[in-house]
Amino acid sequence: RFIMNFIKDDRWHYIADGLKVTLIVTFCAVLIGVVLGFLLAIVRSTYDKTGKLKLLNLICQIYITVIRGTPVVVQLLIIYFVIFASVDVSKTIVAILAFGMNSSAYVAEIFRSGIMAVDNGQFEAGRSLGFNYRQTMIYIIMPQAFKNVLPALGNEFIVLLKETSVAGYIALQDLTKGGDIIRSRTYDALMPLMAVAIIYLVMVMIFSKLVSMLERRLRNSDH
Ligand code: ARG
Repeated sequence: RFIMNFIKDDRWHYIADGLKVTLIVTFCAVLIGVVLGFLLAIVRSTYDKTGKLKLLNLICQIYITVIRGTPVVVQLLIIYFVIFASVDVSKTIVAILAFGMNSSAYVAEIFRSGIMAVDNGQFEAGRSLGFNYRQTMIYIIMPQAFKNVLPALGNEFIVLLKETSVAGYIALQDLTKGGDIIRSRTYDALMPLMAVAIIYLVMVMIFSKLVSMLERRLRNSDH
C-alpha cells in the first residue's frame, strides 16, 4: 500500500528532489574540499619539508584545528545564521560551502599524510637528478602520493555523502529531509525512512565499487 500511495500521489517527489539536492551538495562540496584541501596540504608539507611559508602554515594549521574541532552541524548553522544572516543566499550554496570547507580540513590531512608517506629517498633522488623543489613535488612525489591517498579520498566522499543528511538543520530539503517530511505528513515512519536509508546504502555501495576498481587499475599500472 505504501508503494501504491507513493506512486499515486506526489510524495515520491520529496525523495527524488531530495536526492537531487543531496547529490548536488555532495559533488560540489567534494570539489571544494579536494581543491582547498590540496592547497592546505601543499602549504603544510612545504613547511614540513623546507621550513618556508611559516606564517601561511600557521594560518592553515589554525583553520584545520578549528574546523576539525567543531561539529559540522554547528559550522553549518554559523554559516547560515551568522555569516549569511543578512544576505539572501540559497540554502544549497550555504550547505555546499559548509560541507566543502569542513571536508577540506580532513582532505588536507589526507593529502599531507600521503605526501609524507612517500619515502624521503624519492625526494632526494629527484633533487639529485637536478629537479628543483617544485618539479620534484609535481613529477615524483605527487603521483606516488595520489595512489597512497586514493582509498582515504574515496572514504571521505562516502563520509560527506552521509554527512550532508544534517542539512535539514537549515531546512534544506535533501534526501533525509524529504523522507522525514513524508514521515510527518503520513504518520508512517518506517517506509519513508527505510527508503531513504536504502538509497544512501545503494549509492555508497556503487561508489565503493568504483573506487576499488580504480584502485586495482592504479595498482596494476605499477608493474
Ligand atoms: N560528523 C562529524 C562532525 O560533525 C565528523 C565529520 C567528518 N567529516 C568529514 N568530512 N570527514 O564533525
